[in-house]
Amino acid sequence: MKSRISKEIKRISKLDSYVRPSKIEDAFKLDSNENFALDFEFINAIAADAVKKTDIREYPLEQLDRLYLELARYTGVNEKFIGIGSGSDQIIELLLSTLGKDCRATVFTPTFSYFINRCELHGIKVDEIPLDKNFELDLKPFLKSAEKSDIVYLCSPNNPTGNQIDKKTISKVIESLKDKLILVDEAYSDFADYSLSDSATKRDNVIVLRTLSKAFGLAGARVGYMITNEKLADLFRTTIQSPYPVSTLSLTIAAGVLEKSDFVKNTINEIKNERKRMFGRLASVNGIKAFKSDANFIFMETGRKYNALLKALDAADIVVKALGKMNGRNGCMRVTIGTKEMNEKFLNCVEEAAS
Ligand SMILES: Cc1ncc(COP(=O)(O)O)c(C=O)c1O
Repeated sequence: MKSRISKEIKRISKLDSYVRPSKIEDAFKLDSNENFALDFEFINAIAADAVKKTDIREYPLEQLDRLYLELARYTGVNEKFIGIGSGSDQIIELLLSTLGKDCRATVFTPTFSYFINRCELHGIKVDEIPLDKNFELDLKPFLKSAEKSDIVYLCSPNNPTGNQIDKKTISKVIESLKDKLILVDEAYSDFADYSLSDSATKRDNVIVLRTLSKAFGLAGARVGYMITNEKLADLFRTTIQSPYPVSTLSLTIAAGVLEKSDFVKNTINEIKNERKRMFGRLASVNGIKAFKSDANFIFMETGRKYNALLKALDAADIVVKALGKMNGRNGCMRVTIGTKEMNEKFLNCVEEAAS
């Protein structure tokens, strides 16, 4: 096949491919920032109820409306500003594939690699501006690059570093780039101090991306949402998004969990307490530097102890995200905050292996 398509397949074949994390039976899975602290029975009862009530022979209609209402109640913005997708991954994909043609994007790094990979898939050039050594945003070079771009991606709290960008700094970025499409990825903002959801409804060019995969424990249901101005939200709902991107079951489960958001908020608070406790314990381990987090995971630099730690964690059936070298820091890894039992086992393992 000698055509544009074969050329395109050749180009795509050279891109970074996605490697699915492997599932290790009975291991503590602390590598993907899911929420195991949220009671399984709580989620399972809502899911079982959804199965009972759902007529899966029908396309989802009123279930979508119910979810819009629950999201509006939880986020405090009117439902007309909200769009829903099959995970925020799918929303990112749709925005890039429909709006990104011939565009250039600016991101800071390290950040959520999926975004960069999807840009590359769609032929969108990505300019990567490194965060400083403490993973703070270096405003001047970032704005200089962003001025030349069409799309700006700000992951805050940032994956993998965990820190939420200072509100004044991010507001300055948004204020300076009124003619760029600004995507603020707030997948972890339920664990953080602030959200830009409300301000996105009042701006022409800002889309906040959020998800129920993290704080709300629904990674397997695949439900994400975006908040933006009314016009863009409407365009997304009616034209960009496909008619039925989320299953009736997932929509019903998501609305059911959001209806009980007070219960989820208690778990979020427990995770925040655990975050503080884990940070304190990790900070006192010799040779390890833990970074302050506003998310449900902690980023660590382990330097020369990296290989020994990974070996010990592997032997203890604890899976973390091994990241290696990042921004001049060595032996980096990211660990999800899980149940107390999981966290304790992780901490004991690290303390023992690092001593
Ligand atoms: C920053 C960030 N954005 C988006 C996502 C994707 O979330 P979803 O499960 O809603 O597709 C993730 C998942 O890890 C993430 O870390």
